[in-house]
Amino acid sequence: MNGGLFVFSKKYCRKYKLRLSIGFLLILISNILTLFPIPYIGKSINVISYIFSDLSNFISLKKDICIYVSIILIVPIIGGFVKYHMRQCIITTSRMIEFDIKNEIFSHYQKLSSSFYKKNSTGDLMNRLTEDVSFIRQCIGPGFMYFLNLIILFFMVLMQMLRINKVLTFYVVLPIPILFIFIYYISIFIAKKSKKVQKFQSIICSFIQETFSGIYIIKLFVSESFFQEKHKKIISQYKKKNIELAKIDTILSSLIIFFIGICYSLILFFGGKKYFEGEIKEIGNIAEFFTYVNILFFPFIILGWVISISERAKVSLIRISEFLKIKPEILNTNLVKTRIFGKVEFKNVSFFYCPQRSLYNRKQYVQNYTLSKISFTLMKGKTLILTGETGSGKTTIGRLISRLYDPKQGEILVDNLSLKDHNLYNFRKNIGYVPQESFLFSDSIYNNIAIGSIKKITPCKVYNAARIAMIENDILNFKNRYETIIGERGITLSGGQKQRICIARAIIKNPKILIFDDSFSAIDQKTRREIIRYLKKELKYSTIIIITHDISYISDFDLFIVLKNGKISKIENHNIFS
Ligand SMILES: Nc1ncnc2c1ncn2[C@@H]1O[C@H](COP(=O)(O)OP(=O)(O)OP(=O)(O)O)[C@@H](O)[C@H]1O
Ligand SMILES: [Mg+2]
Repeated sequence: MNGGLFVFSKKYCRKYKLRLSIGFLLILISNILTLFPIPYIGKSINVISYIFSDLSNFISLKKDICIYVSIILIVPIIGGFVKYHMRQCIITTSRMIEFDIKNEIFSHYQKLSSSFYKKNSTGDLMNRLTEDVSFIRQCIGPGFMYFLNLIILFFMVLMQMLRINKVLTFYVVLPIPILFIFIYYISIFIAKKSKKVQKFQSIICSFIQETFSGIYIIKLFVSESFFQEKHKKIISQYKKKNIELAKIDTILSSLIIFFIGICYSLILFFGGKKYFEGEIKEIGNIAEFFTYVNILFFPFIILGWVISISERAKVSLIRISEFLKIKPEILNTNLVKTRIFGKVEFKNVSFFYCPQRSLYNRKQYVQNYTLSKISFTLMKGKTLILTGETGSGKTTIGRLISRLYDPKQGEILVDNLSLKDHNLYNFRKNIGYVPQESFLFSDSIYNNIAIGSIKKITPCKVYNAARIAMIENDILNFKNRYETIIGERGITLSGGQKQRICIARAIIKNPKILIFDDSFSAIDQKTRREIIRYLKKELKYSTIIIITHDISYISDFDLFIVLKNGKISKIENHNIFS
């Protein structure tokens, strides 16, 4: 068992201390019950040998035989019942702990900033949340149970053996320290191999996730065989790593069996010698020794699995802690919620995503600014049109206003207060964001729209948002209307339908700042105009930011900005088209 895992699981074990204590008590009872009938096996063999030596003994020993046989038969049945409850108690608790760990990681993932998700693949995140947590569960549940069971049983057996013959006990347990030295060195190899296998699991998970989310591209470009080959390559590497790990696991198990075999030989050799020399009086004692080693056989075999799972759990813990240690970059420093009106001001704002390696010196990092010295003021309730070349930084401005990222230089003010000083959650509640790439959850249309609202949701609100986004008629034409389940990422909907559901989701909470990032690109000109007309009417006090390449459908706005290479190339404060 490793220390890191012990520290990590302490708080969870504390939560379930009663259940675990009962479980450990049951381990103790089950071991007592396992060992209880063994002296009676020895006694039975002695009785049988008396009878064989003189048949007239049978009548007088009949009662003893009945008692011994009853104990040998009944006690294991009770022991089995206790074992069942012991496993139930500990393994169910480990499932509860798994539930808690998964929830903790999930909630932590949700707090992490966008940059974290850019750096790490979804497959890796999934793998750490499922496979890695599962290894930790197996280690702190069944792993720990078997380990503790072995320790308790070993010491109980040792006591019993010492009771019979001290010298023979010494010979029998002599190989065990040597076995533990082997186990120690083999476990180092297991840890190394496990690390590689678990890393590969993440790679496979990411590959599969990415392949099937882009399946239609694969079909369109007839790239099935290319991806099949890629999959084969990754899987065969994974297979190789797994076989290497399995080989070490097998060596460990074989070694344990070999050492148990040595113990048997030692009993046979030294026990037999002592019996013939008369030091051990009864043949039943030798049988007892064999039974004790037999009882240790299964726990020792399981020890191989425990070590393997403990090493895997150690690697899993490192992988999970790596993510749990990451602090969210966007912090909420203000607990006081203030009313948001929607005035947005950029003061010399500069931003870059992450430093990149220099072309000339690979050890150096250079900061390529995505946005440079952006300044503008958008009054509350006014409309900004943000346009410019591809890659000029329009989406980045939208992300900065929503505080998905913080500026590297300069300051963004909302209602004359620095955005960083606003209560983050309260501010986000006042933001309606329609992303450039429509994202929908595989749920009903109703829930996809309702997810945008934080207040108590009513069907009326959902219908109204759908009406403003001009998606109502489309929804009513679907078989299950608002309850229609859209496939993963909205696969069953057209591009324009997805965009309009995303618009409905953004406006349902009546936000004070609304950002449309190229959100009308898949919608026809007439519908675009209608949506904007509705928006202006229904959300007349909201500040609206429309990021677009095509300004032909917008006739009424207050600020017009053109971006070029992350800088403002043109800014107009009036409605230049009116
Ligand atoms: N998460 C990111 N990490 C690193 N660089 C990024 C990231 N997102 C965008 N960029 C880079 O920042 C620059 C500006 O991107 P942005 O998405 O803001 O452009 P845009 O004006 O919205 O373009 P488009 O009109 O194509 O949507 C681009 O050069 C892009 O490659
Ligand atoms: Mg963009």
